[in-house]
Amino acid sequence: MEELRVDTELLREFERGLDPRHPERSRIPARVLGYGEISTVFEIRAEGLEGYAFKRLPIFKDREEIEPYLASYREYNRILSEEVGLSLPAYGHAEFVSDSGRPVFYIIQEQLPAHSIGNAAIHHLPDSEVLALVRMILREEKKVWDFNRGRGDLEVAIDGQISNWSIVGFEPGAGCVDDSVRFLYMDTSTPLFRVDGVEQLDPELFLRSAPSFLVWMIRLLFLEDVMTRYYDFRLVTIDLIANFYKEQRAELIPALVGTANEFFAEEAPEHGVEPISEKDVASYYREDRIIWALYLALRKFDRFLRTRLLRREYPYILPGKIKRK
Ligand SMILES: Nc1ncnc2c1ncn2[C@@H]1O[C@H](COP(=O)(O)OP(=O)(O)O)[C@@H](O)[C@H]1O
Ligand SMILES: [Mg+2]
Repeated sequence: MEELRVDTELLREFERGLDPRHPERSRIPARVLGYGEISTVFEIRAEGLEGYAFKRLPIFKDREEIEPYLASYREYNRILSEEVGLSLPAYGHAEFVSDSGRPVFYIIQEQLPAHSIGNAAIHHLPDSEVLALVRMILREEKKVWDFNRGRGDLEVAIDGQISNWSIVGFEPGAGCVDDSVRFLYMDTSTPLFRVDGVEQLDPELFLRSAPSFLVWMIRLLFLEDVMTRYYDFRLVTIDLIANFYKEQRAELIPALVGTANEFFAEEAPEHGVEPISEKDVASYYREDRIIWALYLALRKFDRFLRTRLLRREYPYILPGKIKRK
């Protein structure tokens, strides 16, 4: 597929006036489209940049570090679309060194309608349709697990959260999702895949955006866990269901657990996934929430240290308060 391209000069200009603390107050304003646990996705209000979604990664020390990341980003997108058979939004990237000497990498995607993204869509659907939607998403994700089973040399991970899927052509008024609906998988910026058992992404890059006083602890406590969970059908499914706490639809969790277990038994018996219980979901969520809330709080503390006390630049755009139950 032809990659998307934008005028790098425009991004450079955006970068010059960027206010990472308040992206909407930047000289060329940005509007946040969504927050992930680690990154922020936004649109840039400038002629020539309309219709795109940008994810900014200021994590690289120098340009040499960008190269292997770019190679695995591209390869991950290629494997998912050409070999696994997922559909991805049109994508591309931009890279340059900012005026302050910082290498910046932008992931660019076509911008998808906000209401089409899974975590928004579930608020416009009756309960039975939400269950049907999750079942269809599990069907998409199963493509990954099928692929991994069939290949000894190559193993791909996926972050199957509901907020990572866009429903093509979804109309909030429709009230239902058709069985023939197509999905786009958006979250490709963490290219986790193993070739002959070897992880292709340098995990240290993950740690870059973490406060330096935390790096040792993250490495010790949960890097391994976060990097391996996305290779596991069962854990990815638990994660998907646990999202419903965060999305304020926890009342659906018992039924979703039923849907997932039915799916494992009826549509994926060859994977031998052990059934999930509500308790599995609840305890997973509790732990996950603590990890990320702590992580964000400490990043904010780090921002405070760097900008207020050390009067240095803090390059990351952090989410505001994430609403969680
Ligand atoms: N191409 C896009 N168009 C519109 N919104 C997007 C796009 N990509 C991401 N988003 C929004 O930003 C959120 C975070 O993006 P994602 O790629 O999942 O990042 P993370 O790795 O931080 O989870 C998504 O859940 C979605 O709401
Ligand atoms: Mg995401």
